[in-house]
Amino acid sequence: MTQPKRYLVTSALPYANGRIHVGHIAGAYLPADIYVRFLRSTGRDAVFVCGSDENGVPITITAEKAGISPQEVVDKFHNANAKAFAGLDIAFDVYGRTTSKHHAGISQEFFTNLFGKGHIEPRTEQQLFCGKCNRFLPDRYVSGRCPNPECNAPGAKGDQCEVCGRTLSPLELVEPACALCGSRPEPRETRHWYIKLGDFQKGLEAWLATKEGWRENVGRFCKGWFKEGLGARSITRDISWGIPVPLAEAKGKVLYVWFDAPIGYLSFTQELFASRGDPDGWKRYWSDPDCALIHFIGKDNIVFHAIVWPAMLMGHGGINLPSNVVANEFLNVRGQKSSKSRNWAVWIEEYLAAFPPDPLRYYLTTNAPEGRDADFSWEDLQSRNNSELAAVLGNFVHRTLAFTEKYLDGVVPERGTLGDLEKGVLAEAEAAVKEVSAELEAFRFKAGLQRVMKLAQSANRYFDSAAPWKSRKTDMAACGTAISVCIELVDRLALLMYPYMPGSAARIESYLARDPKQLPRQWSAPGNPPAAGTKLSKPEPLFRQIEKEEVDAANAKLG
Ligand code: 2FM
Ligand code: ZN
Repeated sequence: MTQPKRYLVTSALPYANGRIHVGHIAGAYLPADIYVRFLRSTGRDAVFVCGSDENGVPITITAEKAGISPQEVVDKFHNANAKAFAGLDIAFDVYGRTTSKHHAGISQEFFTNLFGKGHIEPRTEQQLFCGKCNRFLPDRYVSGRCPNPECNAPGAKGDQCEVCGRTLSPLELVEPACALCGSRPEPRETRHWYIKLGDFQKGLEAWLATKEGWRENVGRFCKGWFKEGLGARSITRDISWGIPVPLAEAKGKVLYVWFDAPIGYLSFTQELFASRGDPDGWKRYWSDPDCALIHFIGKDNIVFHAIVWPAMLMGHGGINLPSNVVANEFLNVRGQKSSKSRNWAVWIEEYLAAFPPDPLRYYLTTNAPEGRDADFSWEDLQSRNNSELAAVLGNFVHRTLAFTEKYLDGVVPERGTLGDLEKGVLAEAEAAVKEVSAELEAFRFKAGLQRVMKLAQSANRYFDSAAPWKSRKTDMAACGTAISVCIELVDRLALLMYPYMPGSAARIESYLARDPKQLPRQWSAPGNPPAAGTKLSKPEPLFRQIEKEEVDAANAKLG
């Protein structure tokens, strides 16, 4: 298969109404960051786009409950979340905001274009109205029991039941209540604009049928929607925060947040290239069919990315459709769904106050919710960190570099003739590059990291068998050869670790007396260990143990 010339990679835009937690990171952000770093390590041109989703009911409800303005809410969380991502080395090229003027203009242009082509039409409909609050109650302004007979959970929101995942409209809720005052709302007539998704069903089915190698969850979900038949979906709302609907007769109404949010991927790319003095540069990523558009999301966002957004793009024309929608399942915390109101979540800000980014990047990848939901616990993170990351990978790197420092004056030794052991482990390192590449190419992040760890285990076994601590007393040439091989393995591990744990890979680069700013190194030319005679820098252990007291302290913050 020929590779596309470029990649535009996105992570779902988080609502700027709360902090980022480990569930978010494992779902849509860390895998995307790993993928982009991998693309760049294999010489490919990639742009990585994300930003804050700042419109819509999630923001206004948070503001009303806190007694502050929506603007104050989004300012606070936009900055806090950008900082959390940067702290975890999740390195977007742009982290935009859907409250920008440019974004509003592009979103209105999308609406006008689709409206002009007849894909959007007004309808008069019933909507829940709270007499006490004197307002319509869209989406999350209403809660009630889930109408799905198999679920029936209380606390379902007017847009979705978080227990069974079904997308809802407020009128479907059983025993609806106003989320602000708790009183029972009554249906009342109002007028809204709908996108006719049915216009695109055939096209979407044909388009999805061409997609090979997508995750099973996305295909399954879409088939379910197609089977029910795509109807029309309301894309306007009666709230006062958001992007005004660009029609005279829709005065006072705003675009539904899920209409404008995905447009953010495009508008933020435009803002990025404008800031680089290349205002048309975005077209290379959005209009050239030789660019792959790849969306990373959590499973609750599948319908919007695999159906509604592609329909909008088809209707709009001239812009690429997604090449892949990579959806993860959920990461729970000790068996329960993360919840802001119950403070049942592991907040990134708090994690970073106590630990460096890479143990979490490691744990969330080895425990990734790739094919099914996964569970986070501090005990599990501690055990993976202590018995795998530090004891296997960190140990091999440190024992090699510390030995060189202590017994060889920190200088890379000459290499003598290689025996079978040496040849075997170096061949494994050679093969690992291809194998990790194949996993990452197919979005199997967990399997790729397991392959890296397998190489670290083999490297440790080689160190044990070669026993340089013995040969240094009896056969200095053999000792030198063993350490030279180990340094090559350290070098290879750093190369392969980079997408997963860029901070630790950068530290190894500096121990190997190279400039970490040169990262990413290219996987096409993997064998690049420092030459014999190179003076290395003094190493520090790569990872530290996480202590029981730290786990207890972290657990005490939950709930
Ligand atoms: O579910 C969410 O958190 C949404 N804010 C995701 C939006 S993704 C996109 F399309 F922008
Ligand atoms: Zn009310």
